[in-house]
Amino acid sequence: MSLSTLTKPADAPSTVDASVPYYQSVGNECEMFEQAFAQRLPLLLKGPTGCGKTRFISHMAAKLGKPLHTVSCHDDLTAADLTGRYLLKGGETQWVDGPLTRAVREGGICYLDEVVEARKDVTVVLHPLTDDRRVLPLERTGELLEAPDDFMLVVSYNPGYQHILKSLKPSTRQRFVAMSFDFPPPAVERDIVAKESGLPAERCAALVNLAASLRGMKGQDLEEGISTRLLIYCATLIQAGMPILDAARATIVEPLSDDADVQEGLMEAVRATFG
Ligand SMILES: Nc1ncnc2c1ncn2[C@@H]1O[C@H](COP(=O)(O)OP(=O)(O)O)[C@@H](O)[C@H]1O
Ligand SMILES: [Mg+2]
Repeated sequence: MSLSTLTKPADAPSTVDASVPYYQSVGNECEMFEQAFAQRLPLLLKGPTGCGKTRFISHMAAKLGKPLHTVSCHDDLTAADLTGRYLLKGGETQWVDGPLTRAVREGGICYLDEVVEARKDVTVVLHPLTDDRRVLPLERTGELLEAPDDFMLVVSYNPGYQHILKSLKPSTRQRFVAMSFDFPPPAVERDIVAKESGLPAERCAALVNLAASLRGMKGQDLEEGISTRLLIYCATLIQAGMPILDAARATIVEPLSDDADVQEGLMEAVRATFG
């Protein structure tokens, strides 16, 4: 084989790596993530549900070629769920690493989604990992694990449905490089919805405009603005052949509210857009 068949001509279109999940950047978030990773700094992402946080992290992990350890936090999640515990195995007790410990041992990105939901004792294990010590003390095994250079802690939460009982204390927040995520600007969101659903971009534009006006209702009747995720569901059903109004009812009106009056208001907005 000649060398020329091995090297790409300089003007060849750059190929998209299929193993890297598609993520359309909105600002400098990819660069910020790469720098935080390189400088071994922990990262905090804030933003409404369905605006691309999880996709962003899987994209960045794949781009950096690092394993991703994701934990969806909930109100029963304890420090031991993250670090590990002794379990009875065949009559013997055996230590089993939790996802955080595994990430610290093996390296890679540990992503704690909706971290404010977790029990208070979780922050205690995060603190020594999020300052320059970068260590994880395992009291139960007596180990003090030092995080490798390619370990990164990323946490996210949705400030929208935060209440006083569930927020990150300043002493925790101030250990992270933080970025706010929001729904992408209309032209970008249109392209994302088109790419994810297969519905032509011109048809997605109407959905994105509708979303923008519905997001204006947030706070009055709606707890949260409609997510990019729901727009993709809607476009996917339309692309699959569902009538537009049925698709919109099932992916926009019903998921956003249980209140009959609010639903009627939403449906009116849908009809005004799609007639
Ligand atoms: N910037 C983006 N690039 C590509 N896809 C996106 C982007 N933002 C949102 N999405 C799409 O929206 C869906 C929901 O986003 P996700 O990352 O799960 O939201 P979050 O984690 O913020 O709740 C994703 O599965 C993806 O299809
Ligand atoms: Mg998510």
